[in-house]
Amino acid sequence: MTMDDDLSRIGISLPKNLLDRFDEILNYRGYSSRSEGIRDAIRTYITYYKWMSDVKGEREGVITMVYDHDQRNLLSDITEIEHEYHGIIKASLHSHVTHTRCMEVILVHGEGTHLKNLAEKLMAHKGVESVKLTTIPLEK
Ligand code: NI
Repeated sequence: MTMDDDLSRIGISLPKNLLDRFDEILNYRGYSSRSEGIRDAIRTYITYYKWMSDVKGEREGVITMVYDHDQRNLLSDITEIEHEYHGIIKASLHSHVTHTRCMEVILVHGEGTHLKNLAEKLMAHKGVESVKLTTIPLEK
């Protein structure tokens, strides 16, 4: 018996297409229940967040972001954020994936906590599908 057996029940509202995509993955990976999949997703989220918290010191990295081009004000908001963080952004590459989806790869260099702040700021925006930060320390 672990603390995990002390279950809490929650109700969540999700866009249908998000749930459909989630179910598709659960099905593909052979999960027995949606609850098990959600527990796993939350654990992964926590691990990722902890891993992000370890990003410290001078680092070089890449932020990969996918977002909805049609989301109101998103494009100008992203540009504004990128200008705000101009000191750590070395370059960015934009790819128009489909009529409505965009992918942006941002090359960053600077203090790890700043890189993380930038990634989190982008992530918090509505219409941003995913943001992934990958970094390496300067010294091995
Ligand atoms: Ni685009």
